[in-house]
Amino acid sequence: MSEEEIEDPKCRAQRLRKEIERHSRLYYDEAAPEISDQEFDVLFRELRELEEKHPELATPDSPTQRVGGSPSQGFSQVRHMQPMLSLDNLFAKDGLDGLRKFVASVARSVPDEALEWLVEPKVDGVAISLRYEHGSLVSGATRGDGETGDDITKNLKTVRAIPLRLRGPKVPSVLEVRGEVYMTSSGFGRLREELRSAGQEPFANPRNAAAGSLKMLDSRLVARRPLDFLAFGLGEVSDESNLPSTQKGILDWLQSLGHRTHQWTKICRSAEEILGAISELDALRPGFGFETDGAVIKLNDIALRERVGDNARAPKWARAWKYAAEQAATRLWNVTVQVGRTGVLTPVAELEPVFLRGSTIARATLHNEDEIRRKDIRIGDTVIIEKAGEVIPAVVGVILEKRPSDTRPFDFFAHIGGRCPACGGPIERDPQFAVWVCKNPQCPAQKTRRLEYFGKRGALELDALGGIVADKLVERGLVEEPLDVFELTLDQLSTLNLGTSSEPRVFGEKNARKLLEAIERARQLPLSRWLHALAIPEIGEETAHDLARFHESLDDVTGSQLLQDVVALDRLRGEIAETNPRARKNRDKSEAERQRLAENHEKLVKEAQEIGGRLISKGFAEKARKKDSSNWDAVVKVGPVAARAALDWFASQRGKEVLQRLSVLGIRPQGRAPSHKVDAFAGKTFVLTGSLETMTRGEAQERIRSRGGNVSGSVSRKTDYVIAGPGAGSKLADAREHGVCVLSEEQFLALLDEKSSKS
Ligand code: IVH
Repeated sequence: MSEEEIEDPKCRAQRLRKEIERHSRLYYDEAAPEISDQEFDVLFRELRELEEKHPELATPDSPTQRVGGSPSQGFSQVRHMQPMLSLDNLFAKDGLDGLRKFVASVARSVPDEALEWLVEPKVDGVAISLRYEHGSLVSGATRGDGETGDDITKNLKTVRAIPLRLRGPKVPSVLEVRGEVYMTSSGFGRLREELRSAGQEPFANPRNAAAGSLKMLDSRLVARRPLDFLAFGLGEVSDESNLPSTQKGILDWLQSLGHRTHQWTKICRSAEEILGAISELDALRPGFGFETDGAVIKLNDIALRERVGDNARAPKWARAWKYAAEQAATRLWNVTVQVGRTGVLTPVAELEPVFLRGSTIARATLHNEDEIRRKDIRIGDTVIIEKAGEVIPAVVGVILEKRPSDTRPFDFFAHIGGRCPACGGPIERDPQFAVWVCKNPQCPAQKTRRLEYFGKRGALELDALGGIVADKLVERGLVEEPLDVFELTLDQLSTLNLGTSSEPRVFGEKNARKLLEAIERARQLPLSRWLHALAIPEIGEETAHDLARFHESLDDVTGSQLLQDVVALDRLRGEIAETNPRARKNRDKSEAERQRLAENHEKLVKEAQEIGGRLISKGFAEKARKKDSSNWDAVVKVGPVAARAALDWFASQRGKEVLQRLSVLGIRPQGRAPSHKVDAFAGKTFVLTGSLETMTRGEAQERIRSRGGNVSGSVSRKTDYVIAGPGAGSKLADAREHGVCVLSEEQFLALLDEKSSKS
């Protein structure tokens, strides 16, 4: 009888887990495997089968969890208990002076202290936060807006460099580890090849590849992506008393818990030493095997950091140092023109291929006609190209000394014969954006781009639609507009000729089935993805997410009260500025005229406060104190330009047609029930005044407290909301004086009610 048959399944599972973790560590961290991949697979398979047979034995931190689970509908939001801050930048061009200024600014807030700095590499990836409870990984999230991010736990569990359990005896009961998920250069190269040969659009750089991978809804696919992780800091920690006292100490401690941290760091004691460390790192970083876009300079002493403090977005005690973009010189052989989704014509430089930062560059953007003219870029010139981190390479200038004698200034219009290079249709110059635009809505290039946008990552993720497949679907007249993909048949797709009539190459049944499955899945994707995919002007991925958190369906966005309020508030703000009797332009007006203005002004301010209060109560805006004033302002989630654009699009003929078509196709994307309202109470202070109609004061207090809010008896600057009912007294006046947000009972109920943001 073999060993595993005699052993009790629970012990066997535990032993297998330990073994698998040990071999993973040997393989990934120490590059010293003791067993072959096949032997590893045998252990792994045994554990998985054991867990399938005895589901009660499965644990959330089991290595089997790394293979990922079935696709989710979208990510839910997690609020970071400690905000995830960003970093302010210093640039190479700021030089030693910039560093000195930064060092001096920190020194001013902690005088008489000798300052020590830690310089770390800045990995170019995606910031995440990992939450461990009693040593087990329980959740992982993206940074999002710093306050709330996407819950991507399932995806992060597939990243082998992230320990599912922390090592060591004294792990705090709650420990949040912050760090960067990234893709190594070699992993990125392999992925590019793989995507290319599958006919999919490869990512532009490792950072996009890491971000795109983490956003995938099917964690089984994420598990196959070569993602890595480096830890560089902490978030919430339950017991801070035993924490290391320096950044270096934290990195060492994280390593002892089983996390990977930077191998290269340097302690510095002056701006000069920091600059030295930065140059040393610059020379070393090409050998790291992953992309770094700079250095991070952090105050080493944690207690001093607290004294120096943070700004709203970034700590005052740290800076990101951005290395100068890398440049190369090469010949410009020709200029081709790309037609975008909205018909915009973009000039592209066709270059003598040149190697720059890990890749060969043969094309670079020339931005637009005005930029070409400003830099006097001519065909035949030797040009300087630049690649800065995540952006596409660009032509930044010309080496005039190398200009051949026979070049002529570049004339965009003449170069393309005054017609769209894709469809031969008429073009027009859009003076506002300095671009030429193809005005033919039937232009096949535009149709293809619209289709690609529809299927891109972050939208409907129909990966197979990238490149040639989209081209051919449009060329063969199978797709006129993106929604047509929902009517494609297996036969049409399998026989789609991706080659030419003389050299046919069909898409094939297997690929066709895969694409149809993805299309079927897209029907169920959440509202955020659809709002993004529909390419509504001004609505990018972020805004689509914000909208989807506050609306339940596309119908709900049509004529949305929230968006109307944002637009109205913006209009009122303009009118408030106009009618301000103290404004310079109004000072010379007659007394009577100013009196009239003042009355109007006051009315408008009240109206704006009411709308602002309503938006805040629905969670669609945040309350922010105005600078140098006791008044508050509502900072909206989605700005007026995007709000207007969304309302206009849904009211337009095109918008109505799209909604109608979706309804015929039976596609009804769902938004999220707005869970943010729970947060509207957490840590906030409320004061009640006057009487309430639907509940007693005691009940109101109870409900506020049960949601994490505080109730206070008097109004001060610390008060967040005053709830005023009939018969409200001096507290209401106090609220006005302190600029505190006043809610009516109805608004309070809306804040409590998590049903719908429309009500
Ligand atoms: S510290 C409160 N350290 O850079 C300090 N960030 O530009 C927060 N990053 O969002 C960040 N390497 O994604 C820190 N060694 C490092 C880093 C690093 C990369 C990223 C991180 C952050 C972004 C800010």
